[in-house]
Amino acid sequence: MTQDELKQAVAREALRFVVPGAVIGVGTGSTVNHFIDALAGIRDRVRAAVSSSERSTERLRAHGIEVLDLNEVSTLPVYVDGADEIDPGGAMIKGGGGALTREKIIAEAAERFVCIVDASKLVPVLGAFALPVEVVPMARELVRARLRDLGGEPRLREGYLTDNGNQILDVHGLRIEHPAELESRLNQIPGVVTVGLFARRGADVALVGGADGVTQRDYA
Ligand code: A5P
Repeated sequence: MTQDELKQAVAREALRFVVPGAVIGVGTGSTVNHFIDALAGIRDRVRAAVSSSERSTERLRAHGIEVLDLNEVSTLPVYVDGADEIDPGGAMIKGGGGALTREKIIAEAAERFVCIVDASKLVPVLGAFALPVEVVPMARELVRARLRDLGGEPRLREGYLTDNGNQILDVHGLRIEHPAELESRLNQIPGVVTVGLFARRGADVALVGGADGVTQRDYA
């Protein structure tokens, strides 16, 4: 199977977690695009969605799925999203697609985070994938200096602005042995909007697409 077929397979499998009649949280990325397409097949069972990006919102609406503002939603049983890396404890690096801030907000609001990945995203230690950090533009150089002090090599994502009008520094060269600790530390730097480390609120479940089919890992 190609990597894209693996993504498609985990996306289809994630339909099992959709709670009938409830609002569903929907992430961003190529794996989630397959999930949105699969969701269209059961749209009568989905009340509506909340979405982590303009891209996903557009795709959901194109399939006739209503998209609500998170502020209008009182309970969100499930959030389905991809990841750039996931470690054995369910901590993730996310934000390769730039949607990390809204992803983190929806993840926090959801009762259950279902992560959908192909097996290439499983890592023993996070950090080979550059860690995205969303920053307020006026704080960019200040944050960059602080990230260097922590041993990282932050590179500006050139010509890119997030849905929130901010910039992203991709931090190379980190080996993240204690992700929750680093997440808290980076959250303290003024000008940091969101750190693409999802450790304090990691995945509850991962569906992993590999050569042997889709397997489930439970972390909670
Ligand atoms: C989007 O900002 C990211 O957090 C995605 O969840 C992540 O990059 C995974 O994307 P793919 O499904 O395209 O690999």
